[in-house]
Amino acid sequence: MNNTLDIIKKRRSVRNFKPEQIADSEIAAIIDAGMYAPSGRGDQSWHFTIVQNAELLHELSEAVKRIYASLDNPFLQSQGKSEKYHLYYHAPTAIIVSGNKDALLPQLDCAVCVQNMLLAAESLNIGSCWISGIDLLAATEEGCPILEKLNIPDGYKPYFQVALGYKKNEDLKAAPRKENLINFIR
Ligand SMILES: Cc1cc2nc3c(=O)[nH]c(=O)nc-3n(C[C@H](O)[C@H](O)[C@H](O)COP(=O)(O)O)c2cc1C
Repeated sequence: MNNTLDIIKKRRSVRNFKPEQIADSEIAAIIDAGMYAPSGRGDQSWHFTIVQNAELLHELSEAVKRIYASLDNPFLQSQGKSEKYHLYYHAPTAIIVSGNKDALLPQLDCAVCVQNMLLAAESLNIGSCWISGIDLLAATEEGCPILEKLNIPDGYKPYFQVALGYKKNEDLKAAPRKENLINFIR
């Protein structure tokens, strides 16, 4: 099965990964799909940082969790305070997508880029999950030195992340879709 419409419906956020690493060729295909996303003014403002170091992923996870724990939002606060919660769900690979600050719409460019990557991962039967939080690190004293370890080029801001790995559980169900959200005017 590799019909785009089927892939769109089959993709789910995967939060349970096998520990084995995915292939570099699979990562290359996923990033290539990201690079073919539309972008405001055609800026292609994205940059990709691939992190496969479990220690650094743990460090990033802990730093973002500490910020979540300090926020007013009860959902994020409970994630931040949960001992069990790991930002990347122990995925063997995380890709950080950063946007060029000089672009017209870098955050939106990075968002559509990420969606292309999630769909590409599904088409290769690789589990993926959109991961937030990386954008919060730049605003904290603790986060800045950790961000420096990522070598994100000057002029780029990290917006989103994608956790990637082989799926442990293939059978994830989509939530029912909301209804009555379409108006035709003819
Ligand atoms: C902007 C955005 C941010 C998200 N951030 C996270 C996140 O930090 N952690 C996570 O586990 N899932 C995250 N998700 C995944 C959503 O939770 C998920 O898409 C939603 O629950 C629907 O499930 P599905 O992707 O399986 O259809 C994010 C999704 C989007 C679009």
